[in-house]
Amino acid sequence: MSGFSLLASRSSLLRVLACGSVDDGKSTLIGRLVYETGAVFDDQLAALKRDSRKYGTTGEDIDFALLLDGLEAEREQGITIDVAYRYFATARRKFIIADAPGHEEYTRNMATGASNSDAAVILADARKGVLPQTRRHAHIASLLGIRHVILAVNKMDLAGYSQSVFSDIAGEFGQFTEKLSFAGVTAIPVSARRGENVVRRSEQMAWYTGPVLLEHLETLDVDADVTRMPLRFAVQWVNRPNGDFRGFAGTVLSGVVSEGQEIVVAASGSHSRVRRIVTHDGDLKEAITGQAVTLVLADEIGISRGDVLTSPQARCETADQFAAHVIWFARDEMYPHREYLLKFGNQTVPGRITALKHKLDVNTLEHVAARSLHLNEIGLCNVATRSAVAFDSYDENRETGAFIIIDRQSNATLGAGMIAFALRRAANVHWQALEVNAEARARVNAQTPCALWFTGLSGAGKSTIANLVEKRLFADGRRSYLLDGDNVRHGLNRDLGFTATDRIENIRRVAEVSRLFVDAGLITLVSFISPFAAERQMARELFQPGQFHEIFVDTPLDVCKERDPKGLYARAAGGNLKNFTGIDSPYEAPLNPELTLATANATPEELADRVITYLKSRRLIP
Ligand code: ADX
Repeated sequence: MSGFSLLASRSSLLRVLACGSVDDGKSTLIGRLVYETGAVFDDQLAALKRDSRKYGTTGEDIDFALLLDGLEAEREQGITIDVAYRYFATARRKFIIADAPGHEEYTRNMATGASNSDAAVILADARKGVLPQTRRHAHIASLLGIRHVILAVNKMDLAGYSQSVFSDIAGEFGQFTEKLSFAGVTAIPVSARRGENVVRRSEQMAWYTGPVLLEHLETLDVDADVTRMPLRFAVQWVNRPNGDFRGFAGTVLSGVVSEGQEIVVAASGSHSRVRRIVTHDGDLKEAITGQAVTLVLADEIGISRGDVLTSPQARCETADQFAAHVIWFARDEMYPHREYLLKFGNQTVPGRITALKHKLDVNTLEHVAARSLHLNEIGLCNVATRSAVAFDSYDENRETGAFIIIDRQSNATLGAGMIAFALRRAANVHWQALEVNAEARARVNAQTPCALWFTGLSGAGKSTIANLVEKRLFADGRRSYLLDGDNVRHGLNRDLGFTATDRIENIRRVAEVSRLFVDAGLITLVSFISPFAAERQMARELFQPGQFHEIFVDTPLDVCKERDPKGLYARAAGGNLKNFTGIDSPYEAPLNPELTLATANATPEELADRVITYLKSRRLIP
């Protein structure tokens, strides 16, 4: 039956990432490996899938089950996976080959296929040698933490089986990879088409005395014994069926957890001891990497979903700022300062890329200055999360050192990150407790502070209406402040223009300022185009429920063009104003604003009245 026994030890399973294009003979090479070992069992794979579903919480095969889970998760995130997995086995080892197509979306595919890969086989055509693509693949493989790389110099039959052709290519590749962090680099001359040096040794290349490809893969020492690494246990849920039992269900991401062992909750620093390790089949004395178990602790300490339990001797980092290599998968560019969701294992937190330090030229390994990342690009970024997360550097632990980036509106996966290091300064900035607080200030002002967020096209009438509203509030003795886009752009936001990136930062700043003003006890009116739904959502989330009121000043584009109070639509139409909202820069109308003011058939005074009526109906003013 299944060659993938549930008890297969990790080192008896090798995950290989194959990189290269069809032209390099990649499919032929994989075909050779799979078919010549005579060990392709479709039924075996089906059995494996069944087994992992059935027994997915026990034994070493959990790795494999996780691999499948991971893919499903990505599918839910809207990524089409075109990485194909092939399975074969020899008497010495079992193999999973991830075949990452080398076309346009190669980086994304490689990143998908590389999760967990022990080795990468990169194909080169003997007649073409080391190409930019070869270097790119090696570079990405090293960045993704793959420890072993094998250069298969293919089509040796078409290069006259020449030893010097091979050694030139092997030499050039060896030199290039010296700058990368591989534990092992091996070049092998092969002819996939003729099956030479793949499974069987070539008679034509008697000068080659190294291992043939299969032999090398069978004997590769993948010392990646994750059980020897420090304990990382990711809590997936708190199991509390009744008052007597409280267990933390989750997965051992690395290391071993034993009965009686002391543990620390990474985020809080609370200590306890493991009282029991519970599974469906009874209690265990210890659980190793990959196992899903439920831990019962000796003490009642606060732990929730997403928490990471570690050993006290080797704790992971917790910080809300860190540097990470980000691979961008999405067609839309990455926007610094936009809030995305960052998913670290079981923890998901809102976070932003605060700075792109540089982009990597994957062909030359050079650092290039850039403002954003586009499809397939990789950059070193500073990342800030809204709350602290527990992690290791990706170098130390691929499980706890990686995260994916998710779009908050569409839920699509936009990219993946590999953490380089924590930014220490994050830990040095604390919250200061102040005694005169928002409630006290609100009481003195005898009003309920709130943010009235006016959004709409340029010329829609936002400022006119907001101004009238503030006049009424003022006449009634209310304390207020109007933050107007044009005005704030003369001061605080003077350095910002109208690119999407600058608008995102523009809104981030005014959102933070409006939060301070609400905290100061003021009815705060914000009148900014604020064209993107994501940033308006971000602004909303800065406030307590009920404090933020989105007011859509709904004026059709044609009406704005006709009014054109500042003559800007005319300039944009004449091509003299770039990135103009509604013309060559988008406006995303709110879907669920608290209030919509259709301006076409009402006077500004009438609309201001409606805002006042709204405030009264919500008891924000008497
Ligand atoms: S936002 O998009 O970043 O929210 P904001 O409200 O601050 O825009 O500024 C918009 C004002 O800047 C407009 O009312 C207009 O007077 C002026 N402006 C100048 N250039 C542009 C442009 N390209 N797009 C939109 N508004 C512009």
